[in-house]
Amino acid sequence: MARILGVGVATLDIINSVAEFPAEDSEVRVDQQQRCRGGNVTNTLVVLSQLGHQCSWAGTLADEPDAQLILADLQRYGVDARGCRWYRTGKVPTSYIVRSRSSGSRTIVHYRDLPELTLSDFERLDLSRFDWLHFEGRNVDEVCAMLALAKSQAPAVPRSVEIEKMRAGVDRLYEYADLLFYAKGFAMAAGYEQPQPFLRQMRRQVSGADLVCAWGERGAWAMARGGEITHSGASLPSVVVDTLGAGDTFNAALIDARLRGMALAEAVHSGCRLAGRKCGQMGFDGLGGLGS
Ligand code: FRU
Repeated sequence: MARILGVGVATLDIINSVAEFPAEDSEVRVDQQQRCRGGNVTNTLVVLSQLGHQCSWAGTLADEPDAQLILADLQRYGVDARGCRWYRTGKVPTSYIVRSRSSGSRTIVHYRDLPELTLSDFERLDLSRFDWLHFEGRNVDEVCAMLALAKSQAPAVPRSVEIEKMRAGVDRLYEYADLLFYAKGFAMAAGYEQPQPFLRQMRRQVSGADLVCAWGERGAWAMARGGEITHSGASLPSVVVDTLGAGDTFNAALIDARLRGMALAEAVHSGCRLAGRKCGQMGFDGLGGLGS
């Protein structure tokens, strides 16, 4: 069991399930609607918590009714939310999600009206309490300062950063990370159609971190600090039911594997297995343990 701090957003996800993804300017009937907590880092934490770790979340919430749903869900998974900074006004980040039953895809329209965590919020946390720190690569100036602080105050505690979207200056975060999770969408936005050349290019910019890049149904690739690339195939279920948060689940399983001392290649395999299992089920319940 390790103590893990995750820094990033918690969202309200309003998930509308439809038979097929609708055409633009059409009208379709939703056959199931769910309102649940989401957000990359908190998704990762609820999986890590089921894998046996003691998880804490640091982020922001607005004091409005939807925040209670988010808190209740974190509580249900035993994720400590005392590192949350509350705002009196604003709205919790909200994702309006269309989940297609025919493909399992999820299309997200996101609304936010809430400041993100700042360095001074982060400074209040006692970093010596943690064995691993995981950050969403967003809010770049503040997160960069948080990473720098973590590196100087708790140099022995590994820092992982998820790089999901092209954001101005996001590459400034690289030098502070021990493990970088690159999303396929990020690699593609950077002009790469294949993960290997993308990882080689990233390696020119960062020498001190393991690099990981998950690529949907093609599995995931990793490049260790020495430069060798490994690949694990995806572990897709017979029916893809729900891909929402599959990447977040992958990150959780990989962090868990590294905390358990597994080699990078083995950890990537573990990530693919649990992400695959997640795609075969709704939500995140029951993802503890890798099963067979
Ligand atoms: C899934 C997810 C959703 C959330 C959205 C935020 O990875 O975290 O739960 O609404 O992405 O970008």
